[in-house]
Amino acid sequence: MLLSSNGSRERTWTILEILQWTTGHLTEQGIETARLDAEVLLAHSLGMSRLDLYLNYEKPLLPEERAAFREYVKQRAGERIPVSLLIGEREFWSLDFKVTRDVLTPRPETELLVSSALDHMSDENRCYSVLDIGTGSGAIALSIATERPQAQVVATDVSAPALKVARENADQLQLNGRVRFEEGSLFDAVPGERFDLVISNPPYVAGAERSTLARELEHEPELALFAGEDGYAVLRPLIAGVGSALNDGGLFLVELDPRQAEPVASWCKEVGLTDIRILHDLAGQARAVSARKGSSSPNESSGKEQKQEPSS
Ligand SMILES: C[S@@+](CC[C@H](N)C(=O)[O-])C[C@H]1O[C@@H](n2cnc3c(N)ncnc32)[C@H](O)[C@@H]1O
Repeated sequence: MLLSSNGSRERTWTILEILQWTTGHLTEQGIETARLDAEVLLAHSLGMSRLDLYLNYEKPLLPEERAAFREYVKQRAGERIPVSLLIGEREFWSLDFKVTRDVLTPRPETELLVSSALDHMSDENRCYSVLDIGTGSGAIALSIATERPQAQVVATDVSAPALKVARENADQLQLNGRVRFEEGSLFDAVPGERFDLVISNPPYVAGAERSTLARELEHEPELALFAGEDGYAVLRPLIAGVGSALNDGGLFLVELDPRQAEPVASWCKEVGLTDIRILHDLAGQARAVSARKGSSSPNESSGKEQKQEPSS
């Protein structure tokens, strides 16, 4: 027991007890990731790692520590603010990204896009040119730049505030100068340029589905989520223009909603891209489409003239 400021006796809570209580509370509020959220918020408010929490289960919390944590829990449960926004960061590709309300919090499923990109950039010494359209926090571009130090990466976004966050992340990850940031819509940001890889996680949620979405999404930028009433307002012009932005043998990789995979794959075929594949996540969900310009991989095309296949 501790004496509170008004002299009354307060119950002492250990780390384990408060985690158990908060997990129950968040679960009652319908939050599926209750235990994880409780751990991340408590670790953040105590300035500890999650591992430190496990090592200090019996440690009692000071009243001021509990008060700070209680505030986070209130915002998580009541206003449905995502944990990433409460603590201002999110791990992606084992790197720490700053996140604010100006950017989409990077999602684990987007790591599929990064790993597919790296598979295609298998020659670690080659200077692949990469364009990340709609970079948001910079998650994709900065992960690729980390893994492929020789790559020339350009990251674009139509949102100036998002680009500011991406630049800050580049600084924080000491990748400043390794990635060029350009503001503009789709290919307008890089007129006339061509790349070995064009990668994008564009907005693809249908406006018509707005009322069915998790409340957490209300705290993320409209521009990052919604793409017209049918969800294709950005995907359509992206696919229409990507052929002109790719080098021969270059690869296009795009994330999408599982229901969009088939139509997007067939549009890629219509614009003359080849080797079209639907990529699935570990749960078997279609999460991305990859397609190539011409018939060979960027590794094979290095320094060679490529014959382009006729559009189908
Ligand atoms: C789904 S978020 C992806 C953010 C980040 N790449 C990621 O995977 O976490 C989509 C991003 O595309 C940007 N965006 C929306 N429309 C765009 C357009 N027409 N041209 C370029 N970027 C656009 C948004 O501002 C947002 O940052």
